Amino acid sequence: MKTKEKVLELLLNNSGEYISGQDIAERLFVTRASVWKAIKSLKEAGHKIDAVTNKGYRIRQNIDLIKEQFVVNELDSLGFGINVKVYDEVTSTNDEAIRLSRENEEDYLVIADCQSKGRGRRGREFFSPKGTGLYMSYAFSPDKDISEMENITALSALALAMAIDEVVFDGKKTAQIKWVNDIFIDGLKVAGILTEAYTSMEFPLDNRIVIGWGINVYMPLEGFPKEISKTAGYLVKGDNDDIYDIRSRLAVSTYKHLMKLLVRDSKELLELYKDRLFIIGSYLKINQFGKKYKYGYAHGINDKYHLIVEYDDGKTQELFSGEVSVVRY
Ligand code: BTN
Repeated sequence: MKTKEKVLELLLNNSGEYISGQDIAERLFVTRASVWKAIKSLKEAGHKIDAVTNKGYRIRQNIDLIKEQFVVNELDSLGFGINVKVYDEVTSTNDEAIRLSRENEEDYLVIADCQSKGRGRRGREFFSPKGTGLYMSYAFSPDKDISEMENITALSALALAMAIDEVVFDGKKTAQIKWVNDIFIDGLKVAGILTEAYTSMEFPLDNRIVIGWGINVYMPLEGFPKEISKTAGYLVKGDNDDIYDIRSRLAVSTYKHLMKLLVRDSKELLELYKDRLFIIGSYLKINQFGKKYKYGYAHGINDKYHLIVEYDDGKTQELFSGEVSVVRY
């Protein structure tokens, strides 16, 4: 356990009570300076720690817990009846949502405080630490053929971007989308989405889709892993008093926006999506898996949400999948 985690544990075990810096240092066999450093980074990660001269440090316990009843009540009051399950830990919320949905033949919204085997796109691992992220999956059986739901990936990003604007930024900032469905704030990726389709051999009509949102709400206690430390960001900083229930509220708002988007006109949807795309006109590095990287300009999006690119050799192509990164804006 790192000093920061040990300090957090000690403060939580003594919640409400002040402990002096000297006392913490002695109990944890560390220096006063490392206690001070740990407190500073815990505050940056969103923990509410009061520091009072001659008394020491105290943690305020209203940390942002994900509350199942809150999510259920809010969604009910908005008129969305959906099975909601909140777990402390699962392997992957996508797997759990699909499992429940198949077993009970109903739609499910599954949320977890952390995942032991969070999955990203292309079989990558998705870093899903405890206490600071929101990992949420919606498994449902679509009322049309999966082949007609091509825009679901884009819409799941749009719904989350709208929810972030509503819950976190209160309209003062705009969450942006990197094609197809990564969410960016100030040039850093704050959320990724994995949409999977399941078809049944046994019951060919029993198709299911699962949308999994992975959001870095606060700075992870242990920081981001090295591989993503320069590209990953988070939504909420510091020990601002308004941050409680952000994770539960984000969950409600994302689901609400998705439900509202699903019944909107397709032309309007495309415009809303385009408004948040920040790569159009930029020079991109394009990874179409299994092929060599290519470079080219992003010209736009067609009505199937395919990215129109013009390569260095002047040829254009409409990409329906792949991953892009901006070389030049
Ligand atoms: C990506 O950026 O590559 C997509 C990441 C998707 C992560 C989410 S977290 C909730 C759901 N459960 C998973 O195992 N993955 C998705």
